[in-house]
Amino acid sequence: MFVLNCDRAYLFAHPERELTTDESARYNTALAERSRGVPAQYITAHQEFWGMDLIVTPAVLIPRPETEHLIETVLILQGPKDRIVDVGTGSGAIALALAKELPQAEIHATDISAAAIEVARANAARHQFESRIQFHQTDLLDGLTPPFDIVVSNPPYVGESEEDHVQLEVRKFEPRSAVFAGPIGTEVIARLIPQAQARLRPCGWLLLEVSGTIIDPVRDLLFGWNEVEVTRDLQSIPRVVRARKPLVE
Ligand SMILES: C[S@@+](CC[C@H](N)C(=O)[O-])C[C@H]1O[C@@H](n2cnc3c(N)ncnc32)[C@H](O)[C@@H]1O
Repeated sequence: MFVLNCDRAYLFAHPERELTTDESARYNTALAERSRGVPAQYITAHQEFWGMDLIVTPAVLIPRPETEHLIETVLILQGPKDRIVDVGTGSGAIALALAKELPQAEIHATDISAAAIEVARANAARHQFESRIQFHQTDLLDGLTPPFDIVVSNPPYVGESEEDHVQLEVRKFEPRSAVFAGPIGTEVIARLIPQAQARLRPCGWLLLEVSGTIIDPVRDLLFGWNEVEVTRDLQSIPRVVRARKPLVE
């Protein structure tokens, strides 16, 4: 489908179709890349997220289906959803999904990587969300003007000590700074929580994607927040933690 730029129906409808020399070369190149472990999404440059086709390059993490639980959780939150920021936007997956679902919201998206911001902007343009999302190349929430109703993030949360347990394809081909947070895994989240607290309005929400490995230390870091709740993914792994900033600090 990638080589012929066609859909599955075309392949079934045209079993007699033979590849040209160019198509055959393209197919063999793609196959060789995949054989050395390059994720299919970096070969085709596409990944679907929340019903949208996104461009992905090796500068961004390939959006994962379990991250859609973050979107579902934002949508069921109580309270205003007028001003939202996605921290560590990568391909722009979360920011775009929220722009799609919340047409009245002002959406901001940050990333420390200039190359990731470039991909996210391209995705916003492809889906006609350029005027809906403001991109900022910055460290976490540095320079963003409060108050926000919601801070949402799928930050790097894998510890370098767990590196041996991470799939080889992820280790070799996805951006290290998108996956690993530091020696234990909670380093980025530990910095993000106080920054979110400073920029959320009272009763505003913080939502983080997490893993089973870090859920307990993340709960500890959220000491003093209200309504701390964890949602599990379809494999029953703790995946989304949400917490509400107290009315009075
Ligand atoms: C796990 S990826 C998530 C990408 C995307 N949000 C998704 O869910 O597919 C984490 C992202 O955070 C970015 N990042 C890492 N450290 C950061 C920091 N200090 N400030 C802002 N972004 C950061 C990385 O560049 C990467 O794009």
